[in-house]
Amino acid sequence: MQNIKAYLNQHKERFINELIQLLKMPSVSADSAYSQDVLDTAEAFATSLKDAGCDLVEICETQGYPIVYGEKIIDKNLPTVLVYGHYDVQPPDPLDLWDSPPFEPVIKKTELHPDGAIYARGASDDKGQVYMHVKALEFMVENNALPCNVKFMIEGEEEVGSENLSDFVKENHAKLENDIILISDTGMIANDIPSITTGLRGLSYVEVEVTGPNRDLHSGLYGGAVANPINILAKMIASLHDENNHITIPGFYDKVDELTMEERNAMEKAPFNLEAYKTALEIDDVYGETSYTTNERNAIRPTLDVNGIWGGYTGEGAKTVIASKAHAKISMRLVPHQDWHEVTQLFKTHFENIAPAGVKVKVTPHHGGESYVTPIDSIGYKAASKAYETTFGKVPVPKRNGGSIPIVPLFEKELGSKSILMGFGLDSNAIHSPNEHFGVWNFLKGIETIPYFYKYYMELLSEEI
Ligand code: BES
Ligand code: MN
Ligand code: MN
Repeated sequence: MQNIKAYLNQHKERFINELIQLLKMPSVSADSAYSQDVLDTAEAFATSLKDAGCDLVEICETQGYPIVYGEKIIDKNLPTVLVYGHYDVQPPDPLDLWDSPPFEPVIKKTELHPDGAIYARGASDDKGQVYMHVKALEFMVENNALPCNVKFMIEGEEEVGSENLSDFVKENHAKLENDIILISDTGMIANDIPSITTGLRGLSYVEVEVTGPNRDLHSGLYGGAVANPINILAKMIASLHDENNHITIPGFYDKVDELTMEERNAMEKAPFNLEAYKTALEIDDVYGETSYTTNERNAIRPTLDVNGIWGGYTGEGAKTVIASKAHAKISMRLVPHQDWHEVTQLFKTHFENIAPAGVKVKVTPHHGGESYVTPIDSIGYKAASKAYETTFGKVPVPKRNGGSIPIVPLFEKELGSKSILMGFGLDSNAIHSPNEHFGVWNFLKGIETIPYFYKYYMELLSEEI
C-alpha cells in the first residue's frame, strides 16, 4: 500500500480544507439553540460519505438527532468493519478563553505541532478523527484497496449520552451486523509513543439540589439561625472523600475489579513522565487516591468529581444573601465491574442520608454507562497494532484510558462485537476545553494508518482459517 503516502501528498490540502468546512458547523448537541446546525452537520457528513464512495447513505431519524449511516458492501460473504464516531461537539464555553473563535478554524504551529494544528471545537473530538476514516475510505475505494465491507455509523448525541443511539442499535441488529467495530475517539500517549486504548471507564452523572429556606434571605437577619444551602452542599461534597481520597459512599468499591500487582506492573511500563505532566498543567504536584500512581488513578480507579457548582450571588460586587438553593453537577468515573445504575442508586441513597435537618436534598440522575476493556490478543487488536507499527515505525503501547464512550460496551452487548479504539489525538488537544485542536500530522497519520488496519485485519483472519 505504498500509494497511500502519495495519495496523501496529492490530496492533503483538500482533506484539511474539507475538515475545516465541517468544523465551521457548530453542532453542539447539548444546546437546543444549535439544533439546526446539528442537523446540517448530519447532512454534511452524509454527503462526505457519498463522496468517499459509500453505495448507500442514509440519515436515520431518531427521537433526537439523526444517525448518519453509510455502507460499501463489496461482497456479502466477506467480513464487515463498522466504523463508529460522532459529529456532535461539546459546548464551546467559556468563549472568552478561546484565542480564536471556536467555530472559525485556524491552523497554528506550536512546539508539539510543528506541522500545525487545527484549532476549533470538535477538531479532535470527534469530527477530525471521524473524517480520517472518511478519507481513508476514499483512498481505499479510489485505489481498489478496500478488502472487505465497511459500514459507518456517525451519531449526533455522543456528548449528551447516546440515548437514542442505544435504541437504534437495539432495533437494528441486522443492519449493523459486523465483525469488528473501529473507533477513533480517543488519544495516544505522544506522537513518538503510539498507543492503543484497551479500556474506557464507565460513568454515572448526577445533579444535586439542596434547598433551605423557601426564599433568599438577608444574611445578617437570618445568618447563623438557618441552614445555608451553599455551606451545607460544600460540606456534603467535601465528606464524599476521606483523608486518603477514597470515596466514602457505602458500597461504592464493592464490585471494583482490583488488579493484581502483576497487571499493575505491566501497566506501569507505559511511558509516562510525571515532571512533564506537571509542567504541562502548571501544577506543583499531582493529587489523588493514596497508594496509586497517576496512571492508575486516571484509568483503573473509580473517581468522583464536581463538574459545576452554583448558587447565591455571583454578580459584581457584594450582596449579603443566604440563597434558598444550591446546586452541583457530579460525575463518577467507574471501572470494571461496577454497574452504573447501581452506583447511581448508592450515591442517591447516601447523599440523601447525609443531609442534615433543615435542608431538603434532591438527586437527579443524568446519563451514564458501563466501562469497557478489550484484550490485546484478538485479531482486531493485532491488526491495529501492526497498522501503527507500519506507519509509526514503533509497536504501539496498550493503555487503558480514563474517558468514557458508553456506547462501546453496549455495542458488545447488543451486536456481540468488540471495538478497536484507534485514537490519534493527544491528551494535550484540549478536548472539551477552550482552544481544542488536532495536529495536522495526527490527522494525516490517521488517514495513512487506517487502510493498513483493513489490510492486516483481513490477512490475520485468513491466517486464522
Ligand atoms: N471522545 C470522548 C471520550 C474520550 C476521550 C475517551 C479521550 C478517551 C480519551 C467522548 O466524546 C466523551 O467526551 N465522552 C464523555 C462521556 C459522554 C457520556 C458525555 C466523557 O468521557 O466525559
Ligand atoms: Mn468523543
Ligand atoms: Mn467528548
